[in-house]
Amino acid sequence: MIEKRMSDFTGNHILSVNQFDREAIEKVFSVANSMKPYATRQKRTTVLDGAILGNLFFEPSTRTRVSFGTAFNLLGGEVRETTGMSSSALAKGESLYDTARVLSGYSDIIAMRHPAAGSVAEFAEGSRVPVINGGDGANEHPTQALLDLFTIKRELEYNGHGIDGLHIAMIGDLRYGRTVHSLSRLLCLFNNIRFTLISPKELAMPQPIIDAIENAGHQLTITDTLEGNMDADICYQTRIQEERFPSQEEANKYRGKFRLNQSIYTKHFQSKTVIMHPLPRDSRMEANELDNDLNLNPNLAIFRQTDNGVLVRMALFALTLGVENLLTKYERDV
Ligand code: CP
Repeated sequence: MIEKRMSDFTGNHILSVNQFDREAIEKVFSVANSMKPYATRQKRTTVLDGAILGNLFFEPSTRTRVSFGTAFNLLGGEVRETTGMSSSALAKGESLYDTARVLSGYSDIIAMRHPAAGSVAEFAEGSRVPVINGGDGANEHPTQALLDLFTIKRELEYNGHGIDGLHIAMIGDLRYGRTVHSLSRLLCLFNNIRFTLISPKELAMPQPIIDAIENAGHQLTITDTLEGNMDADICYQTRIQEERFPSQEEANKYRGKFRLNQSIYTKHFQSKTVIMHPLPRDSRMEANELDNDLNLNPNLAIFRQTDNGVLVRMALFALTLGVENLLTKYERDV
């Protein structure tokens, strides 16, 4: 576990939210905000011209993989992708260390997702270039947590609030859902957070994260039912992570357990409660944890989250490669 706090990003791996303090988070958010004109093509920068991102995804992904690639391209760099375990030499028994030694000779920075907890940190030990964790099993998803927090900040600003004092309801598979693990740890850095954790008992938030919330002095309610009218600022819904269950039969017991649609939202939340989900949402009938009838609800922030992911990942690349102050110097005609 990486416990070293981030004071200077340049050349460092990003493996865990434990590396971040509030100052580091503010730095990421400030650089992310400065990325808006480049992400929206109002301006163009070639600050990473000639640089190569190794984008290694050994587990399915749509938005994390593509937004890492998009972010790197928007900064002028090139992307080399490896997707799927079976198409890499890992399938022939090569170690993560050897794979990292090799691929870090071909890249300036590597983003990686892998199904085993701790695997990205193990890979980073062999890498000669910075490695960014794109999700390691049920453990962590630090860049998702940063984009979630960036989204929360923006959404609450719109409602006239800051992050301190917020009430967040996290719903669903809190045991295997790595995004809620990482987001909870980041929120622990703020003041007077109210956590309401709603899940089946078997899918409860892991004890180390409960301990972190309690040790930081935040308010915590744990329940297995969604009831009453909650004054939550944020409703963070999650998918049942069926790929992490011992069997599909076991996962099926919980799919569809906590659905959110417009009528359930109206019954249990305030009219201004922001609805978030890391995506993908499971749209199959038997699961459907976030119904399409919420698509036109202005409080549904799920696609603002995905857009913000590009800004935050651009910021992390710029900081890690030490070019955050060179964006304007390398501007080109649009
Ligand atoms: N939120 C997230 O990690 O989505 P993907 O699995 O599509 O990358």
